[in-house]
Amino acid sequence: MNLAKLESTAREMVSGGRGILAMDESTGTCTSRFDKLGVPSTEENRLSYRSMLVTAEGLSEFISGAILFDETIRQSVNGDTPFATYLNDAGIVPGIKVDTGAKALAGHPGEKVTEGLDGLRERLQEYVSLGARFAKWRAVITIGDGIPSDACLMANAHGLARYAALCQEADVVPIVEPEVLMDGGHSIEQCRDVTHRTLKTVFQQLDNQGVVLSGIVLKPNMVLSGKECTEQAGVDEVARQTVDCFLDCVPASVPGVAFLSGGQTDEQATQHLNKMNQLGLNLPWYLTFSYGRALQQAPMKAWSGDNSKTVEVHQQILQRAEVNALASQGAV
Ligand code: 13P
Repeated sequence: MNLAKLESTAREMVSGGRGILAMDESTGTCTSRFDKLGVPSTEENRLSYRSMLVTAEGLSEFISGAILFDETIRQSVNGDTPFATYLNDAGIVPGIKVDTGAKALAGHPGEKVTEGLDGLRERLQEYVSLGARFAKWRAVITIGDGIPSDACLMANAHGLARYAALCQEADVVPIVEPEVLMDGGHSIEQCRDVTHRTLKTVFQQLDNQGVVLSGIVLKPNMVLSGKECTEQAGVDEVARQTVDCFLDCVPASVPGVAFLSGGQTDEQATQHLNKMNQLGLNLPWYLTFSYGRALQQAPMKAWSGDNSKTVEVHQQILQRAEVNALASQGAV
């Protein structure tokens, strides 16, 4: 393991007032997003849209890294330059989603465990040869009646830790993503408790597997009211509860926290991040973004399957990237 390399890549991903573009939707997820716009999810369409996203001039001013899907890392931007090469040359660190999805956890109705450890060492070698410098693995935790169970938290945290250790062995920075979902009628306090339990379990398991925390990036949910909760916490409360929870659970040696947007509106995702960075606390980690939907909703809509809309798509992605880059500095 080349620790100096891991640490410098991790820092590059989270610092400098920039954040990460999550464009690693699996084909299934991408298809459901395209369906809403009435666009057929063909390989060609996915390539055209994703080529448009990364060719926005000046994107690297706001975006430090981009997470790709297996299909994309094997494709070339507009058919010319491989995605990872193109991004690297543009000053954006290329990364790859390596989990194979969240599957039903046996014996635990309503709960999931993320799979993808089998053959991961070999797959990482191939992704490194294709240019990937970091990876992502997403665990999904649902809040509900009597859940999450300890079994679900343990299984997911163990998977994340085994994945992270394999990444570091290959000099690939692991993005460790335990996502407590917004879905449901739970209160912000319930989200805080579950996020707390989740993060504690994840860091115990990372420690167990010998993962070096200075060479990871944490990608968590924010502490939010459930989507269907009648009482919605405001921006100040979300910022305060999220930072309080993290100060309790996230060791100072982690270089950065890059939040997922998780179904928040574009505006909420920006405001929450901005407020956390405005609290004036001397936090030990950078707080930035690794948004999928909150960066891509607007440009994807502007495209809507029409490849003549390059200017509009570029305008939208740059706008979303810039405002979130400002939020990562508390400057909105
Ligand atoms: P969202 O920001 O849309 O939640 O996506 C981030 C991501 O990469 C989920 O794994």
